[in-house]
Amino acid sequence: MSFLILKSLHMSCAAISYALFFLRGIWSLNGSGLMRQRWVRIAPHIVDTLLLISAIALAYSIEQYPFVDAWLTAKFLALLLYIVLGSIALKYARNKTVRIFFWLAAQAVFGYIVLVAINHKPFIN
Ligand code: HEM
Repeated sequence: MSFLILKSLHMSCAAISYALFFLRGIWSLNGSGLMRQRWVRIAPHIVDTLLLISAIALAYSIEQYPFVDAWLTAKFLALLLYIVLGSIALKYARNKTVRIFFWLAAQAVFGYIVLVAINHKPFIN
């Protein structure tokens, strides 16, 4: 697969992953029944798996790797943080205030990952 197709796949998965996280946050805060739909529970896993596979393939094709190149280390660690904050927001938070806090925090981390991706630098200034 060409680098450009791979990168487009990676960026599309990132955009869909964010859109699904955003929507699930809204639905969970509204107590919407949409959260219980089968596709809403399955799609994020498929998209996030593709996001990760394309990330690994991209890293191999440019020969830069997490724990070797600082910007990819930052991306990888921030991705873990995004997953933890996101799970708290959607699964473990006990009340609405905590859910909103973690939902917003996860989005801030997502924004940081996009900035790191664009700048190829872990610190944005
Ligand atoms: C939520 C997680 C992620 C998001 C939102 C994301 C977003 C992006 C975006 C927007 C780009 C295109 C940047 C540009 O060329 O302007 C990109 C490229 C890339 N990403 Fe990710 N990414 C994520 C996770 C990861 C992870 C975990 C890795 C590796 C461990 C990774 C490795 C790469 C690589 C190698 C490129 C290609 C950079 C280049 O063109 O030279 N990404 N990512």
